[in-house]
Amino acid sequence: MASPVLIDTDPGIDDALALLLAWSSPEISVEAVTTVAGNVPVEQGMVNVFRLLALRQPTPRPVIAMGAAEPLARALVTGQRYHGEDGLGDLANWPETPKPPLEPDAVSVIIDQARRSQRLLTLVALGPLTNLALTLKADAGAVSLIGRIVAMGGAVDVPGNVTPTAEFNMYVDPEAAHRVLAARLPLHLVPLDATRQAVLPRAGIKSALRRATGPLAERIVAFTERGFRIDHASGAQGLVLHDPLALALAIDPTLAEWEPVRLVIGPEGETQRTSGEPNCRIAKGIDANRFLRLFLDRLCPALPRRRASS
Ligand code: BDR
Ligand code: CA
Repeated sequence: MASPVLIDTDPGIDDALALLLAWSSPEISVEAVTTVAGNVPVEQGMVNVFRLLALRQPTPRPVIAMGAAEPLARALVTGQRYHGEDGLGDLANWPETPKPPLEPDAVSVIIDQARRSQRLLTLVALGPLTNLALTLKADAGAVSLIGRIVAMGGAVDVPGNVTPTAEFNMYVDPEAAHRVLAARLPLHLVPLDATRQAVLPRAGIKSALRRATGPLAERIVAFTERGFRIDHASGAQGLVLHDPLALALAIDPTLAEWEPVRLVIGPEGETQRTSGEPNCRIAKGIDANRFLRLFLDRLCPALPRRRASS
């Protein structure tokens, strides 16, 4: 039976790829998608979720809920320089999408899913941890029912990507990250230490998508172009698949080696080791080839062949 998953996200080019991967993964059932301010303002994140839903039309159709518009205690810093003004590479011609709701209700959706699925639920957090921190404040008992939290964030033994020592998701809302780490949750953190090994060469995506031509494949090539360009310019050998790796590790944790650690969050979102009882485990080495195969095989499923007409 497919395991229930809730994805909390700030889409985002790599978040979009993670959602598409999730919707093509039979091991999981995406019950809900909640958005949070991060790469883009939260209203734009909602637009992007609706765009991706229209493009992929997953079944079951997840519950969609808008979350926090601001980090807990500081002004939002977005990732639009990387992801584009709209978060998905600023392409034209997306289909019209419904208007985002006026009121955020991600917290109540997370509580509802946690209570409904009990220990079976995996929450995959692909953006700043604001929504999870707010849910802890609203109903810590419900959060304690979540079976596993897989979160992309942090730079433990490697340099950061926003400052020399901080990774984006942690930098945007360190107060939220601090509360989550203090809550003794089953937290599986996927930091830059692991995601920088998950690099998709440009040729890889082109050849994999060639066998699945159509509007979905064309959009994927188009909205990833900006990410490829910027990652190449900063010295990577392709597109760094931060959020897809976190999603893949929620499906198959054996794709990484894990280390139990105790982390503290510094004032600018630094994730520093400290002594004492572990408060999370972090992904370190990954099986990059096996991850890339899984990602590319699923990203854009080959269209079923048409029956020859008789
Ligand atoms: C993280 O920051 C965002 O830009 C990406 O979507 C990812 O979640 C990587 O640091
Ligand atoms: Ca993200």
